[in-house]
Amino acid sequence: MFSCEKSSIKVLKREGCSSKKSIVLKLIVRNMQSLTGKHIVLGLSGGIACYKAAELCRALIKEGATVQVVMTEGAEQFMTPVTMQALSGRTVYTSQWDARQENNMPHINLSREADCILIAPASADFMAKLLHGRADDLLSLMCLARPREDSVQGGAKPVPLLIAPAMNREMWSHPATQRNLQQLASDGAHLLGVGSGFQACGETGDGRMLEAAELLEEVIAFFQPKTLAGKHVVVTAGPTYEAIDPVRGITNLSSGKMGFAIARAAREAGAEVTLIAGPVHVPTPRGVARIDVKSAQNMLVSGVNAAQSAHIL
Ligand SMILES: Cc1cc2nc3c(=O)[nH]c(=O)nc-3n(C[C@H](O)[C@H](O)[C@H](O)COP(=O)(O)O)c2cc1C
Repeated sequence: MFSCEKSSIKVLKREGCSSKKSIVLKLIVRNMQSLTGKHIVLGLSGGIACYKAAELCRALIKEGATVQVVMTEGAEQFMTPVTMQALSGRTVYTSQWDARQENNMPHINLSREADCILIAPASADFMAKLLHGRADDLLSLMCLARPREDSVQGGAKPVPLLIAPAMNREMWSHPATQRNLQQLASDGAHLLGVGSGFQACGETGDGRMLEAAELLEEVIAFFQPKTLAGKHVVVTAGPTYEAIDPVRGITNLSSGKMGFAIARAAREAGAEVTLIAGPVHVPTPRGVARIDVKSAQNMLVSGVNAAQSAHIL
């Protein structure tokens, strides 16, 4: 039985990707607050998943971010600004005519101070609006007026647009929605994907908004420098189990947590990650391909196979 987590760090070090100390430091920092210093405009458009935005707002703040909530009129049908104000600790903006800003331009002021605009939930209607560059409400106006990577001037910083769609499965699979998604991506938006399962309308399929914890993981990953882009990283984690007979076996106390954290950090750094995991109940980091194994021999075979195409083991 063996666990390769510590040796994975050694190989990362040998590859010159980072020193062992800095990887471990990164993992320690990960356990602290990953979004400290980030200011996020959280935009809500009209959909049932607005209820998840409340939890997301809390999660972002817990992770160190400051959050400015902006809501469409549609979103206000599903969630009150009062709730979002209480959770974010800031007054919520809902109208482009809001006179609280001295120059009466919340669409400019609120977007310029943000590190990103995150639309969660993004309704089918709102994405269609964005696609056409419409700007008849504060949130769409703000998205259109945000500084883009290809447009920023002087010392200004771009404000990336992250989109978390949420809708009924028929709406999601409709060619119009899929067309809009493709166009939004090629216009520079960062699409966060959807979940699958039971929907509020009673149907089952794709189109659910990702859970707050999943979106948080995506936002944290988005901000990480992509130092491992184009690399395939293979990580082994957890214990192995050698069966003595059908009910007894020999194993070790590896929790797998270190290996899973390395896999997550590598994915956040832009790598394609394969995680070969012994028998542990640790959730798979988002975007990581997991192969479950049991015995040391299983782990060896899977590790050797995966290593064929790996840059880092
Ligand atoms: C009960 C109910 C639930 C809805 N849920 C969704 C949804 O999950 N996703 C979606 O795209 N539209 C949904 N809609 C439709 C939107 O609310 C509608 O398209 C609205 O115009 C969106 O406004 P906005 O994009 O300006 O916020 C729902 C409508 C109702 C009445």
